[in-house]
Amino acid sequence: MSKVILVATEKPFAKAAVDRMKEVVAKNPDFELKLLENYTDKQEFLDAVKDVDGLIIRSDKATREVLEAADNLKVVVRGGAGYDNIDCEAATEKGICVMNTPGQNSNAVSELVFGMMLNLVRHQYVGKPGTELRGKSIGIHAYGNAGKCVARLGKGFGMDVYAHDPYVDRSIMENDGVKPVDSREELYAICDFISLHIPGNDETVNSINFELLSKMKEGAALINTARKEVIDEEGLKKMFSERPDFCYGSDLTPDCKDEICTTCGDRSFFTAKKMGAQTAEANINAGVAAVTQIINFFEKGDETFRVNKKA
Ligand code: 3PG
Repeated sequence: MSKVILVATEKPFAKAAVDRMKEVVAKNPDFELKLLENYTDKQEFLDAVKDVDGLIIRSDKATREVLEAADNLKVVVRGGAGYDNIDCEAATEKGICVMNTPGQNSNAVSELVFGMMLNLVRHQYVGKPGTELRGKSIGIHAYGNAGKCVARLGKGFGMDVYAHDPYVDRSIMENDGVKPVDSREELYAICDFISLHIPGNDETVNSINFELLSKMKEGAALINTARKEVIDEEGLKKMFSERPDFCYGSDLTPDCKDEICTTCGDRSFFTAKKMGAQTAEANINAGVAAVTQIINFFEKGDETFRVNKKA
């Protein structure tokens, strides 16, 4: 009997990506692809996972309840980088392998960083004179795949590129022509733009607080294409009220968006929904990688991108 791979996406992959995923699976008669797209009710997800062997998701929440409802599930692949939406502990307990597809959507995310920066420095194109990115400094907070792409694009814009990441060796940054900075505080103090690329976890939740933000240079802007939860919203609101020069562009709508927009509309920019990875290219990369990883997991026992512990 063929193994069933379910793609469950509240925010679906682009059609071109789904077509390519279907092509990959069609070449292998041992696998079958099922789609649950645009679902709005958790129960639909719970019903759909019941008999599947592999699961591909995006920011969809693979909670303990979902994993426990999936009687045959052996592998979950997050088509993307962050896996904070998956209960990895529950997966380990159930013997399920969790993987991500690192790097597959990084270029898309980093291009959006520059889109948001331009939006802010050109005052959202309302006709007011703005400023340029060339000659300004950008501080990359966490130097993973997306951070590296931001560095590459930053250099293309003629910016001075700095990065802080306690988990990455300085020489990796230096080889990319990026200046390593030892502390977050220093990074925030010296750069005209800060681009967040930290993951969402217990260590980072609410970690971008007023104490840190208040170190930012006069007129500096924070760009968040990482996670909503890493921002301490009380601190964000305080920053907007105490620092009339501060700008914020985010791909993750904060709960306090309306409050910020009423008073500081032109200093903030928010996408309509999370758009960082939402390009045809990124969707094809992540979707094809996800489906290939699942096939390789079953056929070769390949767990290269495993992110959860083994039981
Ligand atoms: C990621 O972690 O890869 C990004 O946040 C993209 O998320 P999305 O696939 O839900 O848009």
